[in-house]
Amino acid sequence: MKVFIIGSGGREHAIAASAAKSPRVDKLYCAPGNAGIASLAECVPIGAMEFDRLIAFAKEKEIDFTIIGMDDPLAGGIVDAFEAEGLKVFGPRKNAAILEASKAFSKDLMKKYGIPTAAYENFTDPAEALAYLETAKFPIVLKADGLALGKGVLICQTLEEAKDGVKTIMEDKKFGAAGNTMVIEEFMTGREVSVLSFVDGKTIRIMSSAQDHKRAKDGDQGLNTGGMGTFSPSPFYTEKVDEFCRKYIYQPTVDAMVKEGRPFTGVIFFGLMLTEDGPKVLEYNARFGDPEAQVVLPRMKNDIIDVMEACVDGKLDTIDLQFEDNAAVCVVLASEGYPVAYEKGFPIRGLEKFDGKEDYFCFHAGSAFNGDGQIVTNGGRVLGVTATGKDLKEARAKAYEAAEWVDFDHKYMRHDIGKAIDEA
Ligand code: AMP
Ligand code: GLY
Repeated sequence: MKVFIIGSGGREHAIAASAAKSPRVDKLYCAPGNAGIASLAECVPIGAMEFDRLIAFAKEKEIDFTIIGMDDPLAGGIVDAFEAEGLKVFGPRKNAAILEASKAFSKDLMKKYGIPTAAYENFTDPAEALAYLETAKFPIVLKADGLALGKGVLICQTLEEAKDGVKTIMEDKKFGAAGNTMVIEEFMTGREVSVLSFVDGKTIRIMSSAQDHKRAKDGDQGLNTGGMGTFSPSPFYTEKVDEFCRKYIYQPTVDAMVKEGRPFTGVIFFGLMLTEDGPKVLEYNARFGDPEAQVVLPRMKNDIIDVMEACVDGKLDTIDLQFEDNAAVCVVLASEGYPVAYEKGFPIRGLEKFDGKEDYFCFHAGSAFNGDGQIVTNGGRVLGVTATGKDLKEARAKAYEAAEWVDFDHKYMRHDIGKAIDEA
């Protein structure tokens, strides 16, 4: 069959690598893709928001199955657009992608259905938000309602900071229309875990857990980024935590979406915080995490196309999801200066060192071919160097070894990805 992947990052490279392993796949296409994905798929220069052109391409090439990797097209209704043309597509429809696209919606859903999350209030009027803050406890968390590349969350230590935050989000509109509505929520403490799942509307299957490292610098210092590295599984995601989440979070979320007339098909990413009062939902995403996918998918034993097709066909109950009894670590190689300002276009050396090595992966997050056909840096996050091992320690040692195989000007990485596992 012919499979078409929409997106251009490390997550889409990981999805492509899994799809390429499926004996059912004869040909892979990706739009717009990147220089790494190009080694597995034919990349076509169509943007992820150009729905008409993507649909025309899918029809012309007689694509059998399309996979949407990114949040923006999902929130924009790409699945509805493909379905309207009779094309088979993996991902939530617009009315379900709202689970990620509106934090106010997701908070109201959790409150209505008793799913554990931080206490909160939603605001559309900055004056009301400011009045609320006068009596609030600090630290406190401000969140722009809409999609903001993971950057629309401000943790404020004092009333002054929070007042500035309201201005930034609601008045200066730093995150654009995403800040028309704002959530103010209770600050929680605890370990964070990312749990990805496949959902077919009614049935949910949980993937192995992972942990991201969102801050730019070692020791969780510096600005929030899209993610500087991940490991899977999380040793903090114990059986007891899993049992609690299955009972009070996962299936209840899927059922709540059905009750709201918004059945969810695709991947739900549960951002959890393991608090003293038990696991609570920090956020939902309506797609694979990036770089969570880079450590979870290489460990999945199932044929990804079988699983995704079962989601679309409403037959996920027939799938027994299985993961290798191993571990994976992904270290992101970024451009110095990310997430603020960085340069692009530097040649990437050493990529061939990954050739033929089964437990090492070099997922491209931001790469391109220059005029000479050379692979160059093309983003803040450039590569996700991933290794699997028998346990997290071995996987981490291998990932950091492989992170030295590649080089480019202004290469930057964190050196403590997975360090938390030493405390486990
Ligand atoms: P989100 O995009 O909602 O996951 O938020 C981004 C990051 O902000 C999370 O990964 C947490 O590290 C932090 N965060 C979000 N909400 C809270 C909260 N209620 N309490 C503490 N930290 C939070
Ligand atoms: N790694 C976090 C995310 O994909 O949103």
